[in-house]
Amino acid sequence: MLTAYDYPSAKLAEAAGVDLLLVGDSVGMVVHGYPNTLQVSLEEMVNHTIAARNGAPNAFIVADMPYETYHISLEDTKRNAFELIIKGKADAVKIEGGSQSRLLAIQAIVDCEIPVVAHLGLTPQSIHVFGGYKVQGKEEKQYQVILEQAIAVEKAGAFMLVLEGIPEALGKEITAKVGIPTIGIGAGRYTDGQVMVYHDILGMSDLLPKFVKQYANLSATISKAIGEYIKDVKSEKFPAEEHIYFPIDKKTK
Ligand code: KIV
Repeated sequence: MLTAYDYPSAKLAEAAGVDLLLVGDSVGMVVHGYPNTLQVSLEEMVNHTIAARNGAPNAFIVADMPYETYHISLEDTKRNAFELIIKGKADAVKIEGGSQSRLLAIQAIVDCEIPVVAHLGLTPQSIHVFGGYKVQGKEEKQYQVILEQAIAVEKAGAFMLVLEGIPEALGKEITAKVGIPTIGIGAGRYTDGQVMVYHDILGMSDLLPKFVKQYANLSATISKAIGEYIKDVKSEKFPAEEHIYFPIDKKTK
């Protein structure tokens, strides 16, 4: 699974053979430059999901429900999930957390025939509760809470579970104990699948957490290309003759 937020990223990811695309609310940080994911709106998520769907018409697309869109009431939660499916053309939605109210939200959305991906561990929408982006489940009590939540989200109807920022042993134990596929990000080697942020693996984000493997350095490539373009324009090397339109009677394109 890989994040994709727009037409070109979804198109490239689908063509490369990624099994699942996630229009994650990480878009707020890596594309919009927000300090965290809390500012991302439903409208932004719907628009990014539309763009990703246009780029990857056949992919299975999961869209994140942003902060506040599943916290107020079940009615509101269902309406917001429908927006991502109907307008965004997502195949499923993802919500963070495993508290009692999150379980009710999962049940309510599933009851609308919308598949739900659950997300536990270092859930970025909880940064103010966690006091920052801190690995969760390192201590025994928290470890047990996350394990119980994993079992509970499956029971509530989630068909897949993203596990973020937890010790490998917990990722392994959850994967063994639940019947739904687990997808890890910073959750070690034993989850059923892995998810990464597009901009992280391609070297286009400001911060690189420990769990990321960078497969390209596109920031450097893009900076170099833009620098060359500026140099060519300033030195009048661009546009050259092959980039110019001529009148028809000159018999040139
Ligand atoms: O928003 C996102 O990209 C995510 C992944 C980090 C799992 O939720």
